[in-house]
Amino acid sequence: MNAARDAIGTAPAFVSTRDPARRPVSFEQALRRGLAPDGGLYVPARVPPLAPGWQAAEDWHEVVAAVLGPWFAPEEREARVASAQAALDFPVPIRSLPDRRALLELHHGPTLAFKDVAARTMARWWSHSLRRSGERATVLVATSGDTGSAVADGFAGIPNLRVVVLYPAGRVSPLQERQLTLPRDGVYALAVEGDFDACQRLAKAALVDPALAPLALSSANSINVGRLLPQVTYHVWGVLQLSSVLAVAPSEVVSVVPSGNLGNLCAGVLAAAMGLPLAGFVAAHNANDHFPRVLRGEVEPADAPATVATLSNAMDVGAPSNLERLLGLFPDGRYPLPIVGESVDDDATLEAIARTWRDDGVLVCPHTAVGLEALRRQRARRPDGAAAPALVLATAHPAKFPEVVTRAVPEPRATHPALEALPPARPHARVQPSSAALQEWLLASLEPSG
Ligand SMILES: Cc1ncc(COP(=O)(O)O)c(C=O)c1O
Repeated sequence: MNAARDAIGTAPAFVSTRDPARRPVSFEQALRRGLAPDGGLYVPARVPPLAPGWQAAEDWHEVVAAVLGPWFAPEEREARVASAQAALDFPVPIRSLPDRRALLELHHGPTLAFKDVAARTMARWWSHSLRRSGERATVLVATSGDTGSAVADGFAGIPNLRVVVLYPAGRVSPLQERQLTLPRDGVYALAVEGDFDACQRLAKAALVDPALAPLALSSANSINVGRLLPQVTYHVWGVLQLSSVLAVAPSEVVSVVPSGNLGNLCAGVLAAAMGLPLAGFVAAHNANDHFPRVLRGEVEPADAPATVATLSNAMDVGAPSNLERLLGLFPDGRYPLPIVGESVDDDATLEAIARTWRDDGVLVCPHTAVGLEALRRQRARRPDGAAAPALVLATAHPAKFPEVVTRAVPEPRATHPALEALPPARPHARVQPSSAALQEWLLASLEPSG
């Protein structure tokens, strides 16, 4: 990789994937901007190695220090690591399955999905930067259901920040609406009379609307580096746990990542670039199989098809944004370790949910099922039948997707006390899908940030 000059002390700088001059910005600037002004994604100019002794880490917080510390200058390191550790106050255990497989359960956070890890950490890092400058900001997030509640929960009550969540009226599940409209300090849920694309369009337009400048709008979507770095931590922690349980070297482990926008896979590849030795990754996609086809050399990265609706709907992404980041980090797909792609359709997803319950006694969400089925196929393709130890990322709790899970396993019903305890959805504000309507609502509802 081309090493650019560091912008701040010994901390790695970040550069835009679209800037041939590779002009460096600090992590803080990359975090606050989200997207680079030229429309590119920020990538590190150099990838630091994991802190010495990382293999000896005994718990997740020690791993968090070993993974995140090297990204910050010494004078900043302690505070940044401490805020990440404070944010990550829930466990990320592995659950062993037969045949040298394990699930890395990323769904023990407040909204029961892996996004809690990144949203909670990013909120604290962001607030840390704003407090230093005395500014306030308003985070605008468009959601098709899941991201919105993780961001709302992660940012709730955080000083100097407030959140507006735009979601498509009548197009999120009843459970998701109850999660989205839960009363939270500094969080506003707004239903848009349109689809998810309309929400995204409105959010993007609002970010560049000069009339809304006094609100200091910013975005917390999945391409923000503030979401990427925290996700590196659990790739390392998962492999350490599995290698200890099975008494195998980390370099034998295959990691299976249920993928859509490729943020999670990008974080895993970054872990490998930092020095996590692994046998390789399986990028497990649903019918939205652009990345597996790119890996097989069947299509160009830029020729992405339209999105297809599936039962693992949080992975319904036709054109994954983080592909640009992966290729920015590793030009021409020269990844630090092998990545293979699989594509699993809805019937096979339902079958994998049913099989995992029947054979392993575990209920999984449809996204995790795509990962388990992708692993089964990868293993079946090996001529020698050898089964490398495998870690499958369990990205959400099955109780978040009752409609799909009960189609495969009618009984028992997947439940979770946190979801059972949610109050009914609150009456919420609704706006027409027009920039003028959103602008009017924002200016009437929010105090200027100044
Ligand atoms: C439950 C679940 N699994 C998997 C994914 C895919 O992750 P990524 O978009 O980082 O590839 C998502 C993304 O939203 C998700 O919500």
